[in-house]
Amino acid sequence: MVDTIAAEEIFKELKQHSISEFFRKNSQMLGYSGKVRSLTTVVHEYVTNSLDACEEAGILPEITVEVKELSESRHSIRNTDNGPGIPSKIIGKVLATVLSGTKFHRYIQQRGQQGIGGSGCTLFSQITTGKPIHLRSSTGRNAYECDLTIDIKSNKPLITNMKEFEPSSFRGLSIYGEFGETKYENSDHGVYEYLRRTALSNPHATIRLVDPEGKETVFLRSVQEMPKRPKPTRPHPLGVTTNDLRDFAHLSASKKVSSFLTDTFSRMSQNKVEELKGIVANVDFDKDPHTLTWDEAEALVKGFKQVKWIAPDLDSLSTVGEKQIELAMKNILNPKFMSVVERRPKVFRGGIPFVVEVGIAYGGNSGRQTEEGVKGTIIRFANKVPLLFDGSACAITEAASSIQWKRYHIKSFDEEPITLLVNVSSVYVPYSGVGKQAVAQEPEIIEEVKLAVMDCGRILQRYISGEKNLSIQTSKYNTIMRYVSQLAINLNDITGISKEEIEKALRAVIEKRYKHMLEEEKKLQEAAASIETAEQPSAEGENAAEEDSEAE
Ligand SMILES: Nc1ncnc2c1ncn2[C@@H]1O[C@H](COP(=O)(O)OP(=O)(O)OP(=O)(O)O)[C@@H](O)[C@H]1O
Ligand SMILES: [Mg+2]
Repeated sequence: MVDTIAAEEIFKELKQHSISEFFRKNSQMLGYSGKVRSLTTVVHEYVTNSLDACEEAGILPEITVEVKELSESRHSIRNTDNGPGIPSKIIGKVLATVLSGTKFHRYIQQRGQQGIGGSGCTLFSQITTGKPIHLRSSTGRNAYECDLTIDIKSNKPLITNMKEFEPSSFRGLSIYGEFGETKYENSDHGVYEYLRRTALSNPHATIRLVDPEGKETVFLRSVQEMPKRPKPTRPHPLGVTTNDLRDFAHLSASKKVSSFLTDTFSRMSQNKVEELKGIVANVDFDKDPHTLTWDEAEALVKGFKQVKWIAPDLDSLSTVGEKQIELAMKNILNPKFMSVVERRPKVFRGGIPFVVEVGIAYGGNSGRQTEEGVKGTIIRFANKVPLLFDGSACAITEAASSIQWKRYHIKSFDEEPITLLVNVSSVYVPYSGVGKQAVAQEPEIIEEVKLAVMDCGRILQRYISGEKNLSIQTSKYNTIMRYVSQLAINLNDITGISKEEIEKALRAVIEKRYKHMLEEEKKLQEAAASIETAEQPSAEGENAAEEDSEAE
């Protein structure tokens, strides 16, 4: 007979865990898996926070990242920015409490979304070295330094060694942490490549890296203006689920369901509410939104789908911009040819706006250098943040791999000197994991990326077929021209007309015949020269010819 165990016995073990405890056990979900990736993840979290903070405060970002090797598999990172700083009274909440931040509940395009990144670094330092994070902050009025750890059991901050100092000496935030289980590597997944790509998509930022060997690389800003500030927006009715709607209703300050709807959603006018009243029969629009039930929320969401809505407000989106992408690709890849396309904004899940930008660079230093030669490469970004990992789970890779490159005279994407750059921007990027390294495979996003790549591909195709045609013509022209002098001598013998005169006339006839080709060749040479003389790389210490690569 098999011994049975009573339910009471089994559930004696029941315990509730804090969110910090959950992430301590599952730190790989935050991007802490593998030594190289872990180090890049810390830099990614601090740098995206610095960029967001500077942009929100209207400050052109100056960010310095210093990485030191302390011992094998242990590194320190100091990330310093010139942003607004963080007031001392909330520092524990924002950087030592998991799921606490200023961005999760706002509907505005920013790099951070969840309120996990910064506190995740504090947690990772603590569980791999037992040490706190040290930070110095100055808001201009309030300057202090302190140590931070998380009380993992309660997900509460522990602040120690708090000291105030004169605010005049520094403005911004400087975070220092030590991290175990890490490795610095000059690879496609490494910190250098991460910052290089960040500079590419954020030309308004100056980013410095001091690597473990003490070598300093500066990616100087190539644009002196701040990017267009994305407008905060409200969710569109077509982008919400029943669960979202109920959560919004329960947190609402409105007194009635009808005013809750107009206060919460974009495009929800009083007229639309009246229209909804005619469609959704079982909901009392005068009741308190805090008492909205699941069934009522579900009925409303169904009703939303039956109403004709004006498209979402697109001022909420901020892109890198065609000109900036072109400039960045010229600087870094020095291609023979390139094309950039910014598509018109679209929506996914029925109501969340997003926009796709694509650049293709061909020839020059495009593609990635490998032992078997140059290979095609994809550089992925979401809200201007480089995505170096989890490519196979990403909508961008999925879209690019469905392209029939032969149509665009690319025999095989893998074997050509080609770089495909894709940036997806949205108020809410649907990442496929908490580590935010892959865009979820939403059909509308895949479709838009595909269309943008195809737009770029068509321009590329004209270039490649034009170049092939031109090379056939050029070779014919050169062959004929080689015989002109000899022909002029022979004709001079027969006709007695001077050799120079005959040669001149023959050349004029041939040049007339090949006039179009000669003009095309001149244009190509001028285009190449303009790429060569374009603004030179802004990365001091960086080899502009260095290859780019898809990091998977
Ligand atoms: N360098 C900084 N300067 C000013 N404020 C900052 C800085 N870094 C972080 N913060 C504040 O700390 C909060 C928490 O940062 P954290 O990275 O944990 O979350 P997040 O950026 O909101 O979202 P995500 O988890 O997606 O990164 C931010 O929302 C921001 O308000
Ligand atoms: Mg963040």
